[in-house]
Amino acid sequence: MFLAVDRTARNINNTPKIYYNWGAMRPTLFELKSWALQAGEILRGGIGQKHIIRHKGTVNLVTEMDQRSEDFLVRQIREHYPDHAILAEESGAMAGREAACWYLDPLDGTTNYAHAVPIFCVSIGYADRGQMQLGVVYDPMQDELFSAELGQGAWLNDQPMRVSEIGDLIQSLLVTGFPYDLLETPNNNLDNFTRLSRLSQGVRRIGSAAIDLCYVAAGRFDGYWEIRLSPWDLAAGTLIVREAGGIVTNMDGSSDLLQPPYSIVAGNPKIYPQLIRLIK
Ligand code: IPD
Ligand code: CA
Ligand code: CA
Repeated sequence: MFLAVDRTARNINNTPKIYYNWGAMRPTLFELKSWALQAGEILRGGIGQKHIIRHKGTVNLVTEMDQRSEDFLVRQIREHYPDHAILAEESGAMAGREAACWYLDPLDGTTNYAHAVPIFCVSIGYADRGQMQLGVVYDPMQDELFSAELGQGAWLNDQPMRVSEIGDLIQSLLVTGFPYDLLETPNNNLDNFTRLSRLSQGVRRIGSAAIDLCYVAAGRFDGYWEIRLSPWDLAAGTLIVREAGGIVTNMDGSSDLLQPPYSIVAGNPKIYPQLIRLIK
């Protein structure tokens, strides 16, 4: 058994957090945080520079920095956990022992990044036998590191994090996003956006699903929904919301989020039930 003390994370009683690593092959939150910080540093170094932009669809961009961040993360995982599977946005699925799987979004908020808007992050999730165990989201421009471990809680930098207590929809601040195929289909979430805009204090669209989820966990937003995400967008952030006391489900109310169609509703325990009734 290995013991590791993470000086950046505290328990609820303010003692340093100790991770128990029962074998060489089980990653720690400390490792995910360290890799997210380094990948975030790569992205921060490139913001505002001229990028090589490729189009995956009419409005779906990818830059050379998405790939650089992802290459760094994949290298770390391959070096330390060579038999784990990886699902990474730019490289796709990489085979491994199926029980352990990593979900990587090396740059969530690429459209913002390509326009030098400083709202983007790195998202790393780790699941064992289909259940999320560890999640880290790092916003390098705010230097905010969101993290969670199954059954242990959620943290913003070194502080425990909880969802908000707002219960009246009209007092809630919500956030959503739109799929890249919104020009091609009427099932594009614009009707939900209109409806909820009239029932809440406002609906934001900040352009990073992982940050949206972490802001719900931090109590900044009271609820979030989005349709047709990808597993790497939501793996880490949904664990972080749950560990911060929030609720996240698919739009049909089911709770296995790592299966299609990756259309989800999240919120504090008072706002979530109202949102899931109203989102169509
Ligand atoms: C996108 C962002 C955006 C969401 C899109 C995602 P990307 O991820 O999270 O907020 O609305 O659905 O695909 O492309 O920037 O990694
Ligand atoms: Ca993404
Ligand atoms: Ca991405």
